[in-house]
Amino acid sequence: MIARRTFLSSIAGAAAWPSSGAETALAEANASVAQFRERAARDPLRPIYHVTAAARFINDPNGPVWYRGRYHVFFQHLPFWGERRNRNLPMWGHASSPDMVHWRHEPIALAPGPAGYDAGGIASGCCVIHNNVPTIIYTGVGGAQTQCLATSRDGLRTWRKDAANPVIATPPPLEGLGDGFRDPFAWREGEEWRLLVGSSFKGRGGTVLLYRSRDLHHWDFLEPLATGMGEKCIQWECPTFFPVGGGKHVLIVSPLYRDIPGLRGLVQYAVGRYERNRFEPEEWRTVDHGGPTVYYAPNSFECPRGRRILWGWIMAERPPEAGWCHTLSLPRAVTLGEDGTLRFEPLPELAALRGQEVSLDALGLHAEIEAAVELGGAGRVELRTGLNRLVYDAATGKLIFGNKKTDFALARGESALHVRLFLDGCVGEAYVNGRLCFSNVLPANPDATGASLVATHGGAKVKRLRAWKMGAIWG
Ligand code: FRU
Repeated sequence: MIARRTFLSSIAGAAAWPSSGAETALAEANASVAQFRERAARDPLRPIYHVTAAARFINDPNGPVWYRGRYHVFFQHLPFWGERRNRNLPMWGHASSPDMVHWRHEPIALAPGPAGYDAGGIASGCCVIHNNVPTIIYTGVGGAQTQCLATSRDGLRTWRKDAANPVIATPPPLEGLGDGFRDPFAWREGEEWRLLVGSSFKGRGGTVLLYRSRDLHHWDFLEPLATGMGEKCIQWECPTFFPVGGGKHVLIVSPLYRDIPGLRGLVQYAVGRYERNRFEPEEWRTVDHGGPTVYYAPNSFECPRGRRILWGWIMAERPPEAGWCHTLSLPRAVTLGEDGTLRFEPLPELAALRGQEVSLDALGLHAEIEAAVELGGAGRVELRTGLNRLVYDAATGKLIFGNKKTDFALARGESALHVRLFLDGCVGEAYVNGRLCFSNVLPANPDATGASLVATHGGAKVKRLRAWKMGAIWG
C-alpha cells in the first residue's frame, strides 16, 4: 500500500530529488541503507534465504540478468523509507550471485536525477546485454513516464544514464490509450530488440505496447501485443514475455483495477501464440495463489542453459522500526506442462542451502519441508508447523496456507499431495504438486514448536516427510 501511494503521488506531483546531483543522491541513499543494516539483521522475522535489500523498503524485482559468470537482480528500493524527507522515491537496489543461491548486496544502481525526466523516480524495467554492454531500460518518472537507458562499463557496479534520455519520450498516438506508460521488458529477436511497455486502453483493459529497435536508442512502435481484462482494468504493470516451447509463448502481467482497494489484482499468465506482432492469450491463469496483497510484479529472464526463471515481490509488511520491509520470492523455474499450463518449481540449486535434517518440531524459523502423502480416502491433510498450517481439504477442494485459501483439486492420474514448504522468518512459500505456488506472510514465533502432519477420514499414507534447517544466502 505504501509503495502504491508513494509511486502514484510521485507521478502526479513529480517530487524532485532535493540534492545537487545523481552521485550525491546515490551516496546518501547507500548511507541511509547502511544506517539500518544492523537493525534489519536483528529482526527475527527477517528472511535469511530470500533476496531483499540490506535494509529499508523494496518492491518489484527489476532487470534480472546473467553477465560474465554472475547473476544480477535489481529491485525497486526506497532507501529513505520511514523518514520524513522528500526522498521517498523509487530507485534500483542491486544484489549479485555466482550461482543464484548465494548473494551479496551491491551499491544502489540508479537514483533519481536532480531535475527532469527521472526526478520523480526510477520505476521498473529490465536489463539486457547489448554489444557486450550491460544496459538497463527503465521508466523515468518526471512530469510524465518515459523510457530511459543506463549502461555499465564496470561489471554492473556503476551506471551512467544515457545522454539521449528519454529514448521513448511519449506513448504512441493511439486512440483511447490510458495514462500509464511504464515497466519496459526487452528481448532479442534475430538482429533486433523487441520491447513491451505496460499501459491500458480506456474501456477495454490493460495493454502491452510492442516496439522494435536495433540499437536500443531508436524505437519504432509496432502494435499493441495484447489487450484485455475488461474496462475496470486500468493498467498492466510489469509485463514479462517469453517462449515456452511447443511453439507457444507466455505473457505475465500485474493488473491494476480501479475498483479494488490498493488497486492491485492477481498476477496472471497466459499461454498462447505469438505471430505477426500479436499475442493471442488462450486463458488467463493465476501465477501465485497468495493473491495481490502478498505477491506481485514478477519479472523473468533466461539464464544459461536456457532455463526461464521468475522472480516476484512478496509483501512482507514490517514497520519502519524493523529496518526492512518486503522481499523477493525464491527464484522459480518455469516450464510448460503437458496439460498446457505452467509448472513453477523452486530453483533446484536451492537444495544447497539445506543444513541439518531435523524433525518437524525442531524446525526453527528458517526451514524447508518436503512431504508426499498418498491420499487414500483421506478427506483432509494438515501439515502444521508452529503457528502455520498448510491444509488440503479434498471435500471442499480447498488448499489453505496460513490465513489464505485457494481452489485446488488433484489432476487426473494424481493420487498424492507433493508439497515443498519454505519457511523463512515471516515469509512462506508452498509449492504443491509442481504446479501451484502459494506465497504468504505468516505469523512466526521463534518459540513455537509442536509441528505435525495429520490426515483425517481414511487411509492416507505418508510416503515422504523430511525437513531441513536452511542456511543464509548472504556471505
Ligand atoms: C508495480 C509498480 C510498477 C512501477 C513500480 C514503481 O508494483 O507500480 O508499475 O514501475 O511499481 O515502484
